[in-house]
Amino acid sequence: MTKSNSLFACERALAWAPSNIALVKYWGKRDHALNLPTHGSLSLALGDKGTWTELSWDFFADQDFVSFNEKQLNLESVEAARLLKFLDRFRPAGIKGAYRVRTCNNIPTAAGLASSASGFAALVKALNKLHGWNLDSKKLSVLARIGSGSACRSLYAGFAIWHEGKRADGEDSYAESLDVAWPGLRWLVFMPSKDKKELSSREAMKQTAQTCPWFNTWVTQSKVWLEEAKEAVLNQNFTKLGQIMEASSLMMHASMLSTQPWNLYWKPQTVDMMHRVRQLRQEGVECYLTMDAGPSVKILYFENDRLHLEKMTQDLDASSLLWVNPWSKPEEKLRSV
Ligand code: DP6
Repeated sequence: MTKSNSLFACERALAWAPSNIALVKYWGKRDHALNLPTHGSLSLALGDKGTWTELSWDFFADQDFVSFNEKQLNLESVEAARLLKFLDRFRPAGIKGAYRVRTCNNIPTAAGLASSASGFAALVKALNKLHGWNLDSKKLSVLARIGSGSACRSLYAGFAIWHEGKRADGEDSYAESLDVAWPGLRWLVFMPSKDKKELSSREAMKQTAQTCPWFNTWVTQSKVWLEEAKEAVLNQNFTKLGQIMEASSLMMHASMLSTQPWNLYWKPQTVDMMHRVRQLRQEGVECYLTMDAGPSVKILYFENDRLHLEKMTQDLDASSLLWVNPWSKPEEKLRSV
């Protein structure tokens, strides 16, 4: 590929985005095409766990090329089709060629670990570099949100808040960083199953909004929690933050149990871990849990307490546990093609 056009600022753009875990959950849309949420949400990123994406324009190709973890994707697969539909928004008109996308994740995909979030955030950053848009993070988060709602929060390391916004075009529904350093915080991710989930979060979310009889209560309560959780982060009030984080996740899952037909992502091991976390807390170790659209349990704790968490999980398969420092930075993993 040669750089032959002002529509391309470089030959090959490489970008990174971390995965993120919502502490106040996004679960409900006011606009499905633009992924506009019914309420705002708040997250903490997963440090060096996320996605690297390399993007280029192949002037000689007739169709796009997409690879995931170095395996070429069938362009008709659900994953590739979603990505290409998104890229169609940015494809330069009247220029021969096609996009070449290489994307690598260092987290299990579709195990409820928000890989689409880091994927779309990395892709948007790569587009920004390739096309030389020079957009700021706020604008990039608006674009990432169109790919996948939670992706708008993956533009940032650390804590991020996604503002619900009011406008129909979604320009005020973006995420920004909550500039708070809380270096002692750690994630422990327990993944009882690395299988693909049965029902996508997109479908499950839609089903909840359509058939959960108390969906409006969920939305109202989430707005209250968002304000309180933001304060808790700014004041570094771990107890408050942890309580809201658990409540938001449990209410989200309760809403799925209240849909027609009902939906449950938890496995028996998920419930077992929930009991373990509560037991540990009763023994005086402060830690809190949250679950997303999958059976995984994410536990927020302090590094000083790590030995207690290691003891709590010592009978489990080590490969089901991911110890994550939310403040660690990624190493460059993709080599040049
Ligand atoms: C449970 O962002 O995957 O992780 O906007 O349809 O792509 P789409 O949904 P997605 O939903 C994530 C839901 C969640 C909660 C959260 O991350 O806030």
